[in-house]
This record gives sequence, C-alpha cells and structure tokens, in this order.
Amino acid sequence: MKRFALSLALCVGAFAAAAQQPIVIKFSHVVATDTPKGKGAERFKQLAEERSGGRVKVEVYPNSQLFKDGEEMEALQLGSVQMLAPSVSKFGPLGIREYEAFDIPYIFPDKAVLARVTEGPVGAGLFRKLEAKGIVGLAYWDNGFKVMTSNKPMRTPGEAKGQKLRIQSSKVLDSQMRALGALPQVMAFSEVYQGLQTGVVDGTENTPSNVYSQKTHEVQKYLVVTNHGYIGYAVIASKKFWDALPPDLRAILEGAMRDATVYANSIAQRENDEALEKMRASGRIEIVTLTDAEKEAWRKALAPVQKEVAPRVGQDLIDAIQKEAAAQGYK
Ligand code: LMR
Repeated sequence: MKRFALSLALCVGAFAAAAQQPIVIKFSHVVATDTPKGKGAERFKQLAEERSGGRVKVEVYPNSQLFKDGEEMEALQLGSVQMLAPSVSKFGPLGIREYEAFDIPYIFPDKAVLARVTEGPVGAGLFRKLEAKGIVGLAYWDNGFKVMTSNKPMRTPGEAKGQKLRIQSSKVLDSQMRALGALPQVMAFSEVYQGLQTGVVDGTENTPSNVYSQKTHEVQKYLVVTNHGYIGYAVIASKKFWDALPPDLRAILEGAMRDATVYANSIAQRENDEALEKMRASGRIEIVTLTDAEKEAWRKALAPVQKEVAPRVGQDLIDAIQKEAAAQGYK
C-alpha cells in the first residue's frame, strides 16, 4: 500500500513538472540578428515569453545555424522547427508559385502599396494557400528594396550581361536576370559570401541590410542603388503545432506577433538606410547612385519580365497588386 502511495506521488510529481515545462518554439531563420528580420524575431521572443509568463520559450536560431535555404521548409513540415520567416521569394519550391509575384521588378512603387497588398485580401489569400502544405501564415515582415552588387559598376543594365548573379530560388528572379542577359544562379543565402569571394558567382542582389550584415561589401567592388525589386518575409508556423496550442496561449502569441510585426516593419527602412551609409563610410565598396535616365534604362530592360512570368504567378494576382497601386494614385 505504501509502495502504491509512493509511486502515485512520484507520478503526480512528474505530471506537475511536465505541466510546468514551457512549450518550446524553435524559430529558425537565415539572416543575421542585426537585421530587420533578426530584430523582429528577437522582439517576438521577448513579447511571447513575457506575456505568456514563461509558458512558452522561443528559441531563435539566426544565420542558418539550424537549417539553411532548401532545408528549412521541410524542417517545418517535419516538425523539427515550429516557426520560420522565409523571404517571399522562397515559396516556389514548395509548390506555391504565387508568392513570386513579389519578385516582379518594380511591381511595388512604394512601401504603402506593399502594405496594402500584404495587409489586404491579397496577403490573406496567399496565406490560405499555405494551409494545404501544413503551414499557417502569421504575418508579413518588411525588409526593403534591392540593390545590385558586383565587381563591375553596372550603372547600365547592359553591364550585367554575361555575369553570374546569385538569386534566391525564384523563377521570377531567374527571368529577371535573364532579361539582363546575366546568368542566374540559385544559391543558399548562407553560401553567398563564399560564392562571391571564390568567384563561383560574380555578383548578387539583396537589400542593403543583408549586403552589409553578410559583409558582401568586403568582397564586391560596386553596389548599385537600383531599387529594382523587393524582399520581405512571410512569418509562418507549423499548422499542426499552432492549432494544438491552448487557445489562450495562441491568442497571446498572436498578440505578440502583431506587436513584433509593427516593430519589425517600423525599423526596416531605417535599418536599410543605415546599412547603406555604413557601407559608404567603410570605403570598402563604391556606392553607385543612378541618374533618372539610368533608372529609366533599368526599368526598360526589366519591363518584359512581368508579361513573361504572368502565366506562372497568375495575371489575376498581378492585376490585384496593380489595383492596390492605383488606389495609392499610381497608374
Ligand atoms: C536571400 O536569400 O537573399 C534573402 O532573402 C535572405 C533573407 O531572408 O533576407
């Protein structure tokens, strides 16, 4: 009898201890902590842990520490991580081509149009497409407009011709580089620095905050402020994990995500502006700014891409984005 009481007590104790164990959320991403996404992830961690009173523990793994491009989506689907924030350019390999509409050159005239798209029915519709893949979309986080880097100045789009340029795994980006006569090469973000250093690729495109935090400016001679395209993120979670959370906790996490999103989106532009200034001040790379005529030449060179990729991403989606631009006063 005594022995029974003892094992019962041990059992109860073990349950109580298990009940106190926090739910662990592994949040993996590929960029540095000192970037808009890196800081957004840290803010989410802080808010989620504080507001849940320690019921969740968010472990943020930056810099492809846990999984790199090409691995992380599968890791999410298999339950090895619970949250990711891939760039919207990286959903094609998952079988969701529509996100690549974000890669169409110059499709977003400014961030206000972008916000209308991500926060309106287009953004919601794109999140719905994730569900069949066992993924839930939580938020869109901003990064910024892209620049080109290379060892050639690339003041004109013609100078991109024949260069091997690293891209993310997006067919629209592939078309974009081919429109310039360049040779696009898909490469994981974690491999870009070495790829540039060893000459596997000649150049790349990215936001200033990514260029700076990856030290790309130390292995490239020129950075051209083309602002030809956009990089932002879909913050996503495993649907199985998210749906199984106690409803009150899920509500807390949703609130933490809402506030982390406001924060991440409020710092993105400044982070990119500052990164550009730091690179200029470093003297390690020449920052090339374009005249209006040069900008127009880039626009013209990339104009055919939209039509070419319409069958892939969907003309309806392109129209919906353009409708949001028109609502902001753009033709
Ligand atoms: C890249 O792979 O170039 C970037 O999109 C990485 C990131 O997450 O910003």
